[in-house]
Amino acid sequence: MLKKVIRFAKIYGLRRTYVKVAGRLRKPWMKSGFSLPRKKTVSTIGCGQFAFSTISYFIKQQKGNLFLACYDIDNSNARSLKTFYGYSTIAESVDQLLSMQDLETVYIASNHFSHTSYAIQAMEKGIKSIYIEKPISVTQQQFQALLTEKNKTGATLYAGYNRPYSRAIQRLKKVVDAQQTNQGAFTLTYFISGHVIPTDHWYREEQEGTRICGNMGHWLDLSIHIFAWREMPTTFSIDISYSNDNEPDDNISVNITSNLGDLVTIILTARSEPFEGINESINFQYGDVIAKIDDFRSIDIWVKEKRSKKRFFPKDVGHQRAVLQPFVKENRNWEEIEISTLLMLHITEMVKNLTKSTTINIKEAHQRLLQNSGAIKTYN
Ligand SMILES: NC(=O)c1ccc[n+]([C@@H]2O[C@H](COP(=O)([O-])OP(=O)(O)OC[C@H]3O[C@@H](n4cnc5c(N)ncnc54)[C@H](O)[C@@H]3O)[C@@H](O)[C@H]2O)c1
Repeated sequence: MLKKVIRFAKIYGLRRTYVKVAGRLRKPWMKSGFSLPRKKTVSTIGCGQFAFSTISYFIKQQKGNLFLACYDIDNSNARSLKTFYGYSTIAESVDQLLSMQDLETVYIASNHFSHTSYAIQAMEKGIKSIYIEKPISVTQQQFQALLTEKNKTGATLYAGYNRPYSRAIQRLKKVVDAQQTNQGAFTLTYFISGHVIPTDHWYREEQEGTRICGNMGHWLDLSIHIFAWREMPTTFSIDISYSNDNEPDDNISVNITSNLGDLVTIILTARSEPFEGINESINFQYGDVIAKIDDFRSIDIWVKEKRSKKRFFPKDVGHQRAVLQPFVKENRNWEEIEISTLLMLHITEMVKNLTKSTTINIKEAHQRLLQNSGAIKTYN
């Protein structure tokens, strides 16, 4: 344990490490520290480790104590989150939480299956600012219902896909943008050492959408974000190699090619627990730009003969900036989330059926989704 704490302090800094430990221990004497009183306008549904060590941490650090109410089906998790961060109250139900007069922004960080229905409930209650942790939906039906309600109410939704907000990706985007002309196709590879998820963990339950919704969605989403720097492909061909048909969402390789010649390979491996947490190696090539991202702790970029290297301490996967989306005007285009979720749900179905090879016309699927949700949309 001590070794892990020391290692985490070197990666995340002392303060964040303390909060990560506090999130695991949930001791009533642990506190997040003083902050000036602010109007309380933010509530949280789902008070687990992510709500504790990431969402509430960055809100408190950057905005102060805005915390109105929290809710969890496990009351002890709600109680410890309230005590640590100074939420005003624990809501007895989601309905009560969403009915509070001062509520402006709700963060949803519960189990995956519940995200969409809580977001719809919030929109029905007239809440206009809703942050949904990934995945925002685990089925096509949920996703359709979510977008229909969004379209009806005009609410703003934010997704917890954080990688596009990391400093490494922002830096790479600047270099790519500086190329000015369209440089053709992207090649992207990801080697992800993920957590070992026990068979009895809630991520594994049938309704939760597999590790494709739970984890791989991150790199699908990052790939879609990167494609949007240029022009979005209209079709994707997807090939999956399963190393074990009995655990199809672990130790797999997903290969995606597009009608624009792009090539993406995502390997998710979880054969042993990574001591320092999830570890991500990303390689990138686009025209003259070549880049390597080492676990969001550093990035190396080459443009022809020019080379630059940047280290990030603390490690920056983009969590802070992603969590703060409701407080910032310039956020990523929501349309990217729609496309990446469609792709993620398509691949989830493939994995559930052990399908090896398919093609999806993402442009048509997206158009259908928007038409069915009542949004008027014409493609460029
Ligand atoms: N963006 C990221 O990098 C990242 C990283 C980790 C987790 N997450 C996401 O955060 C969310 C929470 O994950 P976690 O790691 O905190 O898991 P966790 O198991 O620590 O916490 C989940 C919490 O939700 C509560 N819960 C379960 N069902 C509920 C329901 N129906 N209503 C209300 N509360 C309910 C549980 O009691 C628990 O307190 C998930 O969506 C997960 O994918 C995102």
